[in-house]
Amino acid sequence: MAANNVSAFTDYIAGDSMLPLLIQGDAIDVLASLPDCSVDMAITSPPYYMKREYLAGGIGLEDSYSEYIDNLVDVFKEVYRVLKPTGSFWLNLGDSYQSKNLLMIPQRVAIRLTDEVGFTLRNQVVWNKLKGAPDNAKDRLRTLWEPVFFFTKEPSGYYYDVDAVRKKPRKAKSVEHGAVVSATGVSGVRYRRKIELSTELSEEEKKKANKALDDMLHLVETGEVPDFRMVIRGATRTTHGDSKKLSGRAKELAEKGFYFLKYSNKGAKISDVWDIIPEDTQGRRYHYAPYPEDLVKNPIALTCPPSGIVLDPFVGTGTTCKVAHDMQRKSVGIDLAAEYLEIASRRCKDE
Ligand SMILES: C[S@@+](CC[C@H](N)C(=O)[O-])C[C@H]1O[C@@H](n2cnc3c(N)ncnc32)[C@H](O)[C@@H]1O
Repeated sequence: MAANNVSAFTDYIAGDSMLPLLIQGDAIDVLASLPDCSVDMAITSPPYYMKREYLAGGIGLEDSYSEYIDNLVDVFKEVYRVLKPTGSFWLNLGDSYQSKNLLMIPQRVAIRLTDEVGFTLRNQVVWNKLKGAPDNAKDRLRTLWEPVFFFTKEPSGYYYDVDAVRKKPRKAKSVEHGAVVSATGVSGVRYRRKIELSTELSEEEKKKANKALDDMLHLVETGEVPDFRMVIRGATRTTHGDSKKLSGRAKELAEKGFYFLKYSNKGAKISDVWDIIPEDTQGRRYHYAPYPEDLVKNPIALTCPPSGIVLDPFVGTGTTCKVAHDMQRKSVGIDLAAEYLEIASRRCKDE
C-alpha cells in the first residue's frame, strides 16, 4: 500500500496528466508514504469536532476535544514534512461548543502547529459567510464566520505571488475643473492648504512639499500612480509611531517634513476578511460539508506556483482538486471514503 502510493505519486509528478491523484486511505498513513519536501501547498478543511459522521468515519468523533486536536496535529506534522521549504498550508477549521463553552479549537490547533510543529502563521483570515446556517441558540450571538489560517513552512523565502490577487479600484481618476482628481477624490487642494497652514514646516520645507505634491499629481495624471495619501508633519495623522528607530516613515517626516503613501497600479492587496457565501457554486447535493470553490481560489493563486502541486489530506468531494484543475495545477487528494473520491474524480472530469 505505502509502496504503491510512493510510485503512484512519483509517476504522477513526472507525468503529463493534469487530473488529480486521488488516494483512498487514512490521511496519516497515506501522507507518511509520500516523500519529504514534495508538494508546493496544502489546503484543507478537516472534519470539525463532533459535527457530523462521514461515510467512512474517521477524525472528528473522538471522546474528547484534546484527543481530536492531537489527531489533527499528527496529520499536520506529516503535511509539514511533505511540504517543500517554499510551501504553505491553508487550514479552514470551524469551532464547537461543549457545555455551552466555545472551545476555540481552531486557535488551539493553530498554536500547536506553530509552537510544536514549526509552522509560521502568516494570517488568520476571517471567512465571512454572509449567510449563516440556521442557528437556534437563544442565549448567544449567531456565528457567521470561520477562520482560515495561512501557515508557511519557513518564516521567509516561501512562494507568494502578491500580484496574483489584487482588488482593482472601483473608480478611476477624473478631471474636475481642469484639475486631476484621484480615484478616491484626492485633488491636492486639502494637502496644499495643510502645507500652507502648517506651523511645523519651515518656508523651505513648504516649498519642497508643494513641489513634491505637484510631481505626485502629475504621476496621477499620467496614470503612473492611481492614488496616494500625503502625510505632513504636524498636520496629518500618521500610521506609525514617532520613534525614528522603529519607523523609516517617522525619520522621513522628521527630516523632510512630509512623505507619500502611493497606491499600486495593479490594485490593492486583498485583505484578511473574505466575504464568501457557503457552497455558492455547487449546492449541497454531493456531500455533507464541501467548502466553496471561492475559498480555495485565492490560496492557490497566491501560494502555488503555476507548475506546482496542491495537496488536500481531507479532500472529501474534491473541491480543492476541482479548483486546482481549473487553475491548471496538479493536485493530490486523500480521503477515507472511496465514495467521496469517486465524486471528486467525476467533478474534475466534468468541464
Ligand atoms: C469537511 S470534509 C472535507 C470536505 C471537502 N473540503 C469538500 O469540499 O468536499 C472532511 C473529510 O475528511 C474525511 N476524513 C475523516 N477522517 C479522515 C482520515 N483520518 N483520513 C482521511 N480522510 C478523513 C471525511 O471522509 C470527509 O470527507
